[in-house]
Amino acid sequence: MCGIVGAIADGDAIPFLMKGLSRLEYRGYDSAGVALLSEGTIERRRAKGDLSALRELLRRNPPRGAIGIGHTRWATHGAPSEKNAHPHIVGETAIVHNGIIENGGALKNALREKGAIFTSQTDSEVIAHLFHAFLADGLAAEDAFAKTLESLEGAFAIAALTCSAPNSLFAAARRSPLVIGRGGAGVYVASDALALAAEAESLIHLEDGERARLTREGFSILNAEGRAVKRVPKKMALQSEEASKGGRRFFMEKEIYETPEAAARALAVPIGEEDGFSAARMRDARQIFFLGCGSAFYAGLAASCWMEKLAGVSARAEIASEFRHRGAALSKRDLAVFVSQSGETADTLSALRHCEREGVPTLALVNVVESTMARLADWTLSIGAGPEIGVASTKTLICQMILLARLALSVAKPAEAKEAREDLSSLPRKLQEALALSEALRAMAKDYLAPSDYVLYLGRGAGYAVALEGALKCKEIAYIPSDGAPAGEMKHGPIALIQEKTPVVVVAPYDRLFPKMLSNMEEIAARGGYLCLLTDAEGAAASKDLTRASVALPAAGEIGAPILHALAAQMLAYHCAVALKHNPDRPRNLAKSVTVE
Ligand code: AGP
Repeated sequence: MCGIVGAIADGDAIPFLMKGLSRLEYRGYDSAGVALLSEGTIERRRAKGDLSALRELLRRNPPRGAIGIGHTRWATHGAPSEKNAHPHIVGETAIVHNGIIENGGALKNALREKGAIFTSQTDSEVIAHLFHAFLADGLAAEDAFAKTLESLEGAFAIAALTCSAPNSLFAAARRSPLVIGRGGAGVYVASDALALAAEAESLIHLEDGERARLTREGFSILNAEGRAVKRVPKKMALQSEEASKGGRRFFMEKEIYETPEAAARALAVPIGEEDGFSAARMRDARQIFFLGCGSAFYAGLAASCWMEKLAGVSARAEIASEFRHRGAALSKRDLAVFVSQSGETADTLSALRHCEREGVPTLALVNVVESTMARLADWTLSIGAGPEIGVASTKTLICQMILLARLALSVAKPAEAKEAREDLSSLPRKLQEALALSEALRAMAKDYLAPSDYVLYLGRGAGYAVALEGALKCKEIAYIPSDGAPAGEMKHGPIALIQEKTPVVVVAPYDRLFPKMLSNMEEIAARGGYLCLLTDAEGAAASKDLTRASVALPAAGEIGAPILHALAAQMLAYHCAVALKHNPDRPRNLAKSVTVE
């Protein structure tokens, strides 16, 4: 997703802008640019491609100025190109924008009728034209900015400059995150606190509909009604070293190896009676919905299995982007649980707003506690994973699964709960043991998956959610076409894809379903498929004549095994990506947080 940075600095703003943009690279982008305001003029540099192209422009012809804005663009309207890159400049104004202006077409037509000439295919450019037009009508900069925002429909985070206010930077947020930071050397704005990790000492998150004017002395915030808002800045929690790779080759590798300590934090997150959420809400619910996108949805899918199996509560996982349009029958006696690492995923936020409109109580499980989702939900639980920079979710998925397993256990029948609780509490140690199997997973990836043009993943129950997660990771960072399927579905279609040497990753702890998994493996081997098994010691022994490769993870029971196997599946995909010389931190076309529907 796009990234925004802005600064009013002591001296030159460019070093901060470029450092901030480089910290936002993990969000995914395909062009970048900066604009500097100095002595009554605005200078801009933009480039298609990654930041190295922009750096070369700046090296050859560095703009100067203490006030500047910068942007990394992930193309929505208009192809990746220099002319579609932000900042957009019209007359004496420059803007950068995250989000989608839903009435952009209508605004563009109206502005064209008044003589506006558009130079890009983007919806964002209308913001610069509107700001310029209201200034040309004689409005003061702050009022012109306010009128511009009033004209926009849709989600946006905006930072803007104008020669009419040479000492100011304007910012606004509506359903797209924006933080303001202050530090010893300047005042800053960014779409992600990570961009300010080294400079800002305190932060304020703009709420929906708020706008701000920043000067070197500080900032003022107005709400949607134009009233001044007093906000207490929060201490910057993020240290710049957390934004580094800690000596690893990739953020993804670093975050995989952080999983055991993150899991220990997730196990310690208080799930109490605070602010009204209690286990009774789950136990008494008519239906629990687990809602999310991508990997977060898979965590919810596993949770629905545990909630029904362990607690006997009716539960279903739904893909957030489908849920709102499906017309699900909802009741105020339901409970909607939203799973999201970023807390900013547009489809999940829309599903949450839909549940709010329907009067359904909402619980958010997020990794970013100041996120929009955390602010909107009735209750919020932090998964405690710590910052995750790699686009592919790793430790955050494991922590999501742990929190969801704990929710299921908090209402589980006593007979089911005791053993499961022991399995959960031993997870940090077992996750550490799983990490020690990295070499076996690397060999499985190198020998069987990386050379293939297709991989099938199979699992049952919560293991099916792991199969989906493994296939997603294989697609998103190794770019190998892959599917995750319930093992019981194999003979209803996917088996047609099994040819000589087709790798099939089977997620199968040695449990009550293992005999059925063994039958599936026989059918695959009979057609020349190469079985790559994620299991435990007993499972490996029971299938050694069938498998090409198997990794025996620690036994961890009904609730622990899927969590361990999810880590193994993530490591498998990581090794595939590295074997194929892809950068797992910045997979093509993908973004860390999808803030547009
Ligand atoms: C998973 O590797 C992907 N990064 C993606 O599927 C992600 O899980 C999904 O976009 C949801 O993001 P969220 O958890 O921030 O809502």
